[in-house]
Amino acid sequence: MLLEVKDLCVSYGDIEAVHGISFKIDQGELVSIIGANGAGKTTTLRALMGLQPVKSGSIFFEGADITNLPAHKRARMGIRTVPERARCFPQLSVYENLQMGVYGISSKLKKELDSIYELFPILQERSRQSASTLSGGEQQQLAIARALVSSPRLLLVDEVSMGLMPKLATQVFEVLRALNKDKGLTILLVEQNALSSLNVSDRGYVLETGNIVIEGTASELIKDERVIESYLGIQ
Ligand SMILES: Nc1ncnc2c1ncn2[C@@H]1O[C@H](COP(=O)(O)OP(=O)(O)OP(=O)(O)O)[C@@H](O)[C@H]1O
Ligand SMILES: [Mg+2]
Repeated sequence: MLLEVKDLCVSYGDIEAVHGISFKIDQGELVSIIGANGAGKTTTLRALMGLQPVKSGSIFFEGADITNLPAHKRARMGIRTVPERARCFPQLSVYENLQMGVYGISSKLKKELDSIYELFPILQERSRQSASTLSGGEQQQLAIARALVSSPRLLLVDEVSMGLMPKLATQVFEVLRALNKDKGLTILLVEQNALSSLNVSDRGYVLETGNIVIEGTASELIKDERVIESYLGIQ
C-alpha cells in the first residue's frame, strides 16, 4: 500500500470539514475522490500534503506514519501536488518554472525534460516565454509538468479540468492516464468532473460533506444509481 488514510478528521477552527474518512491507494493505482463544492476534497489533499493540520486520524505513506510530518519532508519523500487553480510564477519563463519543480537541480531537470516536452509540446515551444503569457489551459499544463519533473512517487491532483475547455480537459485526463499506465505513476485525482475522472480511474470514492459515502471500482461507480443521480446526471 502506497498511501493509507485512517479516520482522518480535519478542521478549520471549530468547524470540522472532514469527518473521519479512510481510504487507500496502492502503488500504480489511479484513484478518484469525487464530490460537490465544499465536500472537503481540497481540505483532504491539503492534509495529505501537510499544509493543513490533522485533527485526528492518521496518514501512512509506504507504511511510515507521516500524519505530523512537515510539508517539505513529505515533498522530499515524493508526494507532489498540482493544486486547485494552480498558479505558475508569472514573472519567470516557462523553463524557469519547470526548474522550480526540481528545486534548482538543473542536471535533474535535463533528464526529465524530454518526456515532459513530449507530453506537453506547447511548453517546449514557449520555454523562453514568460509564464504570464500562457493561456489558462497552458498554465495548467505547466503546473502538471512542474509537479512531474521531480519524478513524484504519488501525484495529488486537485480539480485539474477546472477552467479548461472540454477538449483540453479530455487531453489532460488522457495525459494523466498515460502517466499512470505507461510510467506506473500513482495518482489521486479529486474532481467535481465525476465522469471524466472515473473514466480514467481504477477506483473511486464519493465524498459528501466530509464523509466518504460510496466507494468501489470506477466501473462500479459509473453504474451506481446514487452516483448517476447526484454526480453524472448533468453530464
Ligand atoms: N480556510 C478555510 N477556513 C474555513 N473553512 C474552510 C476553509 N477552507 C475550506 N473551508 C470549508 O471546508 C469545507 C470543505 O472545503 P473544501 O475546499 O475542502 O471543499 P472542496 O470539496 O474542495 O470544494 P470545491 O469543489 O468547491 O473546490 C467547506 O465547507 C469550506 O467552506
Ligand atoms: Mg476544492
